[in-house]
Amino acid sequence: MSDLDAQARDILRGNDKGGYTVPTHGLYPYQWNWDSVFAAWGFAVDDLPRAWAEIETLLAGQWDNGMVPHILFHQVDPSYFPGPDVWQGTGPVPSSGISQPPIAATFVRQIAALDAANGAAKMRALFPALLKWHRWFYQWRSEDGAIVVTHPWETGRDNSPDWDPPFAAIDPVGIDTYQRRDTGHVNQDERPRKYEYDRYLYLVKLGADSGWDERYLRQVTPFRVADPTMSFTLLRANRDLLAMAAELGEPTDEIATWIAAQEAGAQTLWNPDIAAYDTCDLRSGAFGGGVSSAAFLCWYAGIHDDRMLGHLERIMSAETYGIASYDPDHAAYEPKRYWRGPVWAMMNMLIAMGLHEAGHTAHADAIRANTARMITENGFAEYFDPRDGAPAGGRSFTWTAAVWLGWASPTTGRDRWAASI
Ligand code: GLC
Repeated sequence: MSDLDAQARDILRGNDKGGYTVPTHGLYPYQWNWDSVFAAWGFAVDDLPRAWAEIETLLAGQWDNGMVPHILFHQVDPSYFPGPDVWQGTGPVPSSGISQPPIAATFVRQIAALDAANGAAKMRALFPALLKWHRWFYQWRSEDGAIVVTHPWETGRDNSPDWDPPFAAIDPVGIDTYQRRDTGHVNQDERPRKYEYDRYLYLVKLGADSGWDERYLRQVTPFRVADPTMSFTLLRANRDLLAMAAELGEPTDEIATWIAAQEAGAQTLWNPDIAAYDTCDLRSGAFGGGVSSAAFLCWYAGIHDDRMLGHLERIMSAETYGIASYDPDHAAYEPKRYWRGPVWAMMNMLIAMGLHEAGHTAHADAIRANTARMITENGFAEYFDPRDGAPAGGRSFTWTAAVWLGWASPTTGRDRWAASI
């Protein structure tokens, strides 16, 4: 067993709060939605019951309307802002009021394939909640099959330059004075600016004041952006949900309708000016205007669109490490600032999974080797500077450790990869 495998296991264990895992202590002391699914994938390497528990705890936070929140505040921790008092979530567990990329169905299916003893029973038990969650997206967040977000945090790409144009149209009036906590944990050059934070909080207040009324928010919010992260992860997740439904003898028609709509919707995100998938601001009709790493999730979504390969090769060769979260050739690129340039290991894994399935195995293998080297040289950071791999943001990070164990590690990762469906 390599030293790094042992370190990754220690990180998962150290961040385990019993039934759920925090992304890292201090900076992110709660349960985050897609972080937990990656954690489950890491636990699945040698502890399947613990992997299932992670997903069960996440889905236990589901709201009556089907939404599964992006943060579950199981135990109040003052080291994080904005906490449950600001969000005023309305679900069974104190929570935020927005969701996050729905990768759970995909990984439930992957983990079930590893679990000969209990996989089928777990799928059956989790299927209704997953179906209900996906239906929520379709009911409230589908615009001609493209999936819409009402807050940047919903995409998991908090301060991407994609949000600059819609944010320029927001005047964050009426927010209370606030004290950020993130910059107490991490260098402020690696975090979003105050300009963005004001707007994040404006949108949280708008949602909280409405009691998270999706019908009302659809009318009034200034932030309604069709997004490739959501569109591609949900399309992929619906394909996995459909396969699960077929296996379980559940109806498949509704899910098949979603998939057809989303396949068409994905094409509305194609920005001909940059020849890439992009965000689209539904309030102004304008595209984001740059290539983010989310655009490379097209293969993961089962869209075999090789028009994106040229961008991938260009961006991978622009810096020592890839995949930069935003195009290094774009004026908004900032290699240390969170989602404006840094490399995120979990995005690399999702993108490489898609490339592998689409038959682009050389590209997939190159991304995996590049990620493994980056982690080997720089540890289990939250994200990395593409120029030299310098670690940035939080350390001892759950998803980086999980992605190492489940995918990037030459010892534990390879078999999982081969076993994937
Ligand atoms: C940041 C990331 C988001 C992640 C969360 C916890 O908000 O942008 O993707 O889920 O941190 O790690």
